[in-house]
Amino acid sequence: MKVAFFSAKPYEEIVFKAAATSLEKALSLEGTEREDGLPPTFSPISFTYFPHQLTAETALLCQGYDGVCVFVNDELNAKTLYILHEAGIKHIALRCAGFNNVDIATANELSISVSRVPAYSPETVAEHTLALILTLNRKTHKAYNRVKEGNFELGGLLGFTLHNKTVGVIGTGRIGQAVIRILKGFGCNILCYDPYPNKQLKQEGVVYTSLESLFSQSHIVTLHCPLTEQSYHLINEASIALMPKGAMLINTSRGGLIDDKSVINALKNGHLGYVGLDVYERESELFFSDHSQDIIQDDVFQRLLTFPNVLVTGHQGFFTKEALSEIAAITLDNLCFIAGDTRRNVQDNMVKHIS
Ligand code: NAI
Repeated sequence: MKVAFFSAKPYEEIVFKAAATSLEKALSLEGTEREDGLPPTFSPISFTYFPHQLTAETALLCQGYDGVCVFVNDELNAKTLYILHEAGIKHIALRCAGFNNVDIATANELSISVSRVPAYSPETVAEHTLALILTLNRKTHKAYNRVKEGNFELGGLLGFTLHNKTVGVIGTGRIGQAVIRILKGFGCNILCYDPYPNKQLKQEGVVYTSLESLFSQSHIVTLHCPLTEQSYHLINEASIALMPKGAMLINTSRGGLIDDKSVINALKNGHLGYVGLDVYERESELFFSDHSQDIIQDDVFQRLLTFPNVLVTGHQGFFTKEALSEIAAITLDNLCFIAGDTRRNVQDNMVKHIS
């Protein structure tokens, strides 16, 4: 199976090549027979790494490939999918959990299957969520610079004690649950909202409530739900108005969950006290590339960066050695399954269209 790997970064090539070597070794240990009788040391998947983002323009590179392997900011809208279909692409392997960047209905219509990596070390993203909360609160990023310059003044670094604070967790899937486990260790009170409450969490005493009550009682609101039609701009003028003055908002899920203009207004009038973002609605034009020599044209993004109480990271919640290795191994399993290796038990990683 020939796969065109888009938005490839050097660190991903290293990890995917290592995962492919492990897979070859495993297949060879399993004694997989080849029909042509050659030694079973072949890799059923071959990748060509393209640094480009997949868009309707770059989709033309896919001629002669069977599948594409893509990441969060590749654009698989209807236009791109039709070009992929014409080029002969039969499978899209997402190397991430979210699939909001793929027009699933059109993929379905064109019989292009889609797989994803639904769970890879949810603790990785949860730990980054805590990094944002703790950095915003205790201002270690500012303290680092001050101390380096010989300034040991504490003014402006005043934080709050996390113990006993109420944290509202929106979305209690894998990452939300990992966040809850960590926050419990800090002695926080947890309030949750999820249209499908988790029975186990309820048994453990975690309280589910309505969105309105979560917003109005939480010192910190953290988002761990997917971006869907229902969750688009979940954080808007009305929801922010319900939050207590000085509340902290954290988003490590998807940028489209937040209406940035409402967030900017709330930062300007002091209603929001802290904002930590690992994702941004128009991040595909900025993130994962070096724009340090460019004049950034996104004025909303630039305005966000001017606030002293806003911390933005460039979609790095997933970025640990452990998570990257898991992503590579699971993506290869998904592709082997698509290539016909029925021993891979990965049916749940296939994305189905729900009308
Ligand atoms: P999951 O599928 O395990 O859990 C999502 C939860 O959200 C489910 O319990 C679901 O019922 C709930 N949900 C669905 N619609 C909702 C709504 N409108 N309001 C509240 N809850 C809703 O997903 P997981 O693995 O926990 O990931 C959560 C999100 O984190 C992903 O959708 C993805 O966008 C993001 N993510 C970000 C990463 C990063 O590097 N920053 C890395 C991986 C995932």
